[in-house]
Amino acid sequence: MNLTGRHLIDPNDFTIEELKRVIDLGLEIYRNPSNYASLCKGKILGTLFYEPSTRTRLSFESAMLRMGGSVLGFSDSSTSSVSKGETIADTIRVLDGYADVLVMRHPREGAPKLASEFSSVPVVNGGDGGHQHPTQTLADLITIKNYRGEIANLKVAFCGDLLFGRTVHSLLKTLSRFPNVSFVLISPEQLKIPSHLRDEIILNNNVEIIETQSLEDHISDIDILYMTRIQRERFFNEEEYIKLKDSYILYREKLTKAKDDLLILHPLPRVNEINRDVDADSRAKYFEQAKLGVYARMALMALILGVIE
Ligand code: CP
Repeated sequence: MNLTGRHLIDPNDFTIEELKRVIDLGLEIYRNPSNYASLCKGKILGTLFYEPSTRTRLSFESAMLRMGGSVLGFSDSSTSSVSKGETIADTIRVLDGYADVLVMRHPREGAPKLASEFSSVPVVNGGDGGHQHPTQTLADLITIKNYRGEIANLKVAFCGDLLFGRTVHSLLKTLSRFPNVSFVLISPEQLKIPSHLRDEIILNNNVEIIETQSLEDHISDIDILYMTRIQRERFFNEEEYIKLKDSYILYREKLTKAKDDLLILHPLPRVNEINRDVDADSRAKYFEQAKLGVYARMALMALILGVIE
């Protein structure tokens, strides 16, 4: 297995063995960070963020800095020459001479894939529209592995915006490739998972999927609850957003029937779909998930840069 020079655009770009390698290395770095503090000395990460981000951009930056490397880039495309009409292709042809690895977030689906076709250095998709977010999936997987010991034999509920939720799409696709994982997909009718993705998952991996509008009916028999935000920025119609925005709000009292070892995850940011009283519940791991995401991204960059085998 060799990840040197590889792009990560879609979670299916990596085999299960390759994903496990990233996760296991991420946990090793998490437990022994000082052993890896100079791993990327002399390497440069380029961050191209055409859409707002807190966790993805800053966790990539933190990851590179924690390995002794450097970072350049933009967090607001209006400050770059994109605002003068420069294309993605031309931007990438320049930036790949300035950095050793690039991470791109873009509101348009497929933009990081296009970037990878013009880049001589690895390109990582930091989230493209309502499509995919493969490094959030790495953050999710490392959290599951850290708290459950293995990524297998799980009943996973996704709740909220399953239509536009790129974190959901990537994690669903990925978990469906692990052994004995089944899904409960909880959403309003208007925000159900795209049918092509549901069919792809069922056809390729023969997994069990329940689609429902009720969280209460399933809270007692799930192992992971993956809450998501109803995303205002993906709606064309403000009235429709207002109608759906409070479809699901998790309060601590709703967890009384849940398993003791339930993992409550959320890619963040949250608005009000998880009430603050849940934060004190020992099953709530979303802030740990954001932290572990740094270590998954350290491992990813170390492997695609080829500074570790
Ligand atoms: N989870 C995630 O992608 O968060 P940001 O939008 O803050 O990067």
